[in-house]
Amino acid sequence: MSVAAILLAAGRGERLGTPKGFVQLEGRPLLALSLETVRRCASIDSVVVVVAEEYRERARDLAGPDAAIVVGGETRQRSSRAGVEAVPDVDHVVVHDVARPLAPPSLFDDVLAALDDAAGAVPGVPVSDTVKRVLGGRVAETLRRDELVAVQTPQAFRAEALRRAHARAVDEGFEGTDDASLLEHAGLPVAVVRGDPRNLKITDPHDLAVASLLSASA
Ligand code: CTP
Ligand code: MG
Repeated sequence: MSVAAILLAAGRGERLGTPKGFVQLEGRPLLALSLETVRRCASIDSVVVVVAEEYRERARDLAGPDAAIVVGGETRQRSSRAGVEAVPDVDHVVVHDVARPLAPPSLFDDVLAALDDAAGAVPGVPVSDTVKRVLGGRVAETLRRDELVAVQTPQAFRAEALRRAHARAVDEGFEGTDDASLLEHAGLPVAVVRGDPRNLKITDPHDLAVASLLSASA
């Protein structure tokens, strides 16, 4: 079974002030941390890094000669599609946001293993807050917490299903905030595996401080 990883690092990092792949955690750029993680996964054969045009050189320096470096787009979905188009002919693809530098290699293995009986697989963690849908400043609905999970990356897919889901999203003008939602839109089954609460997403400087504490305590 051949597997390619796509590392998404083409966002502007507006809330942080710097594109996330090039922000440092414990002295290392987040892109370098995700590269190290995928290289520790024995099942991953090739890596595609997606960055903004002006970061190509820096990405090449971090990734070395073996990874493909491609330029992303205006939205996460466009960047992911650019990555998918650059993936070689493999069976499975795992898509990961460099904004989650603490994802352990075992989580990549877990989502890939779940492809035995689904077209896609995502890590989910139970939600501890009560979640309400709000319209115009008023509560419209309280969602059933026992049915909710917060979804992370890495997300794994059968390569053909991911390609088809992206093509259909383009045809139908569908926009999703993760790759799994494109499969859902295309009617393809997505499995959920146990996510890791430590696999936080770095959005603002506070998250970077928390990630720093977490990685020091690992
Ligand atoms: N991403 C991307 N291309 C985009 C937008 C996002 O590759 N056009 C990537 C980011 O680099 C990040 C992940 O998708 O690894 C999740 O996006 P997000 O956390 O929103 O990061 P940014 O878009 O960079 O941050 P901001 O929204 O604050 O600008
Ligand atoms: Mg963003």
